[in-house]
Amino acid sequence: MSTGNSPTPSSPRWPAASLSGSPTVTGVRVASALLPEPHPDAPLVVVTGGAGYVGSVLVRWLLAEGYRVRVLDNLMFGGDGLLPLFMYPGFSFQEIDVRDRKALKPWLSDAHALVHLAGLVGYPLCKKLPDMARRVNLDGTRNVLELCPPEARFIYASTGSNYGEVQGICTEDTPLNPLSLYGELKTMAEEICMNRPNTISFRFATAFGISPRLRLDLMINDFAYQALMNRYLLVYEKHFRRTFIHVQDMARAVVHTFRCWDRMKDRIFNVGHESMNFTKEDITSFLKDRLEFLLYFAEIGRDEDRRDYEVSYDRIRAVGFSTSIDIHMGLNELIGGLRLIRIQKPYSNV
Ligand SMILES: NC(=O)c1ccc[n+]([C@@H]2O[C@H](COP(=O)([O-])OP(=O)(O)OC[C@H]3O[C@@H](n4cnc5c(N)ncnc54)[C@H](O)[C@@H]3O)[C@@H](O)[C@H]2O)c1
Repeated sequence: MSTGNSPTPSSPRWPAASLSGSPTVTGVRVASALLPEPHPDAPLVVVTGGAGYVGSVLVRWLLAEGYRVRVLDNLMFGGDGLLPLFMYPGFSFQEIDVRDRKALKPWLSDAHALVHLAGLVGYPLCKKLPDMARRVNLDGTRNVLELCPPEARFIYASTGSNYGEVQGICTEDTPLNPLSLYGELKTMAEEICMNRPNTISFRFATAFGISPRLRLDLMINDFAYQALMNRYLLVYEKHFRRTFIHVQDMARAVVHTFRCWDRMKDRIFNVGHESMNFTKEDITSFLKDRLEFLLYFAEIGRDEDRRDYEVSYDRIRAVGFSTSIDIHMGLNELIGGLRLIRIQKPYSNV
């Protein structure tokens, strides 16, 4: 249990005194000390869906790399995660719906690269809003593709959901078998994207970890939150196997790709790591090592998300990318950070 121990004091090592290197205490200069001010000729990276769970982490990585970044998002879940970024000269934002071609057009014409994250994400949301899911995830993707300058680099955020239930280990050449509308739409959109030259599709593993726009509907985040805050976790189909990636590593994959574009372009990559293939039961046992909670595996009942697969990441490793955050680091981060989340019940005093 790592929950209650208070840290032991140690002797801190302060930075050496330096008068010349201190940041000036005025808005932008202090900000620039944290993130660099981009060169006026720095490439402009447009990120659709940049206010989301992945996007709000990715945008920070891109700014730190010295890119100019423009986020286009309709703020379906708000934009709080982007608020601290408005002080950076390299950052800009437009409230745009990817279904609206006319509104989209002027904000894509000068892009040097585009990372297309916008969409209705996850099978429950697509099941709830199927027509909207088609229009955003498919028609919206077509709009972005058609309006993006042909010479711009294009990265599509695809998903391992395309694989569905697979015997054996999935490589990028495994036939796709999506089991939900979300998976079907992502598969179709990926096919359209890969007809465009100068494009890369990332089939990301399932994300977890803290982001400025947190999602508690992701499996590991949800399990950690329930175990930590409710002290109770009910799990169906404990043997289902999935593959996970920390959200910071998703952003690192994009940054890595821009550094070695010519080796990677026009291909599809699974993004994750074999050491992050786990069953649901594995995740609960890692949580049990850290927290006390009641765990119940249900024999009756069914997880509507039928994904069950194990993935190979040889291809992305061959171009020099490997993840950096393992399950233990990620869970420690979640257990530390999720305590801050307060979900108030409106009809209860406690
Ligand atoms: N999170 C994961 O586990 C995961 C795994 C694999 C792939 N992906 C893909 O990564 C991308 C980002 O996922 P996320 O987890 O950040 O989801 P998210 O729901 O947090 O972010 C999606 C963003 O898209 C925006 N958006 C929705 N509809 C829009 C529209 N019509 N016009 C403009 N913006 C719109 C939302 O406002 C939101 O900010 C998605 O394409 C998703 O399919 C995510």
